[in-house]
Amino acid sequence: MEQERDRQARSFGAAADTYERGRPGYPPEAVAWLVPGDARTVVDLGAGTGKLTRALRAPDREVIAVEPSDGMREQFAQVLPEVRVLPGSGESIPLPDNSVDVLVCAQAWHWVDPARAVPEATRVLRPGGWLGLVWNMRDVSVPWVAELERILRDYGPATNEERQANQVGEPFGPVERRDFRWQQPITTAEALDMVASRSYVITLPSATREELLGRVRALLADRQPTEMPYVTEGYRMRLRRASPIA
Ligand SMILES: C[S@@+](CC[C@H](N)C(=O)[O-])C[C@H]1O[C@@H](n2cnc3c(N)ncnc32)[C@H](O)[C@@H]1O
Repeated sequence: MEQERDRQARSFGAAADTYERGRPGYPPEAVAWLVPGDARTVVDLGAGTGKLTRALRAPDREVIAVEPSDGMREQFAQVLPEVRVLPGSGESIPLPDNSVDVLVCAQAWHWVDPARAVPEATRVLRPGGWLGLVWNMRDVSVPWVAELERILRDYGPATNEERQANQVGEPFGPVERRDFRWQQPITTAEALDMVASRSYVITLPSATREELLGRVRALLADRQPTEMPYVTEGYRMRLRRASPIA
């Protein structure tokens, strides 16, 4: 189980270009809620191809990406060549103590081991700094999206990401939560890439993967969607005190 999880966590690099084409960005309102305007050093943890990173940039702000997958970092460097992207993970962030105002983690906190990642976030954040976690969830209140989820559920464990914001705890303050509803304009090809870039789809045996993609193709041909509706779930919490290491 743990091995399968590791395999899936490492799988993204193999489909980094599909990921870049198929995955959504994040709505500006969510980014503004997660990252105070005066934040000077912002780290995007598990940055992938930089889907959130591009929305974090602002004048007088340094944005640093941390990403464990070589393939994702390569894709990142092509898309955002001007942003520093470092090899690292939630469990090992290659930055000094007390050096970060906001640490954000988009669609990736469920891959970290909170027992090691919370102390690491505590170490790099300045006292009073913010940890922001965000997940884009497909809006299953829309009937064709609910049908898509039913197909995905036939092939994988959890179709929407398993959120772990409540596993942060001390020395962070209470978790604040806000949802943001929005729609991403999407073509059939992009909707297929969104499915194909999911970790458990990447790691399926090829015949099973083709079967799944065939069913999704048929659904999309029938419904011809032009938008993918999302609910972006934001969670933020503030570091109460300095790291014991500092
Ligand atoms: C679903 S992608 C999200 C990428 C990007 N943040 C986004 O919003 O599109 C998950 C990312 O988490 C990374 N990841 C996997 N295990 C990780 C860990 N332990 N710490 C940090 N990132 C991790 C993967 O390599 C992948 O790039």
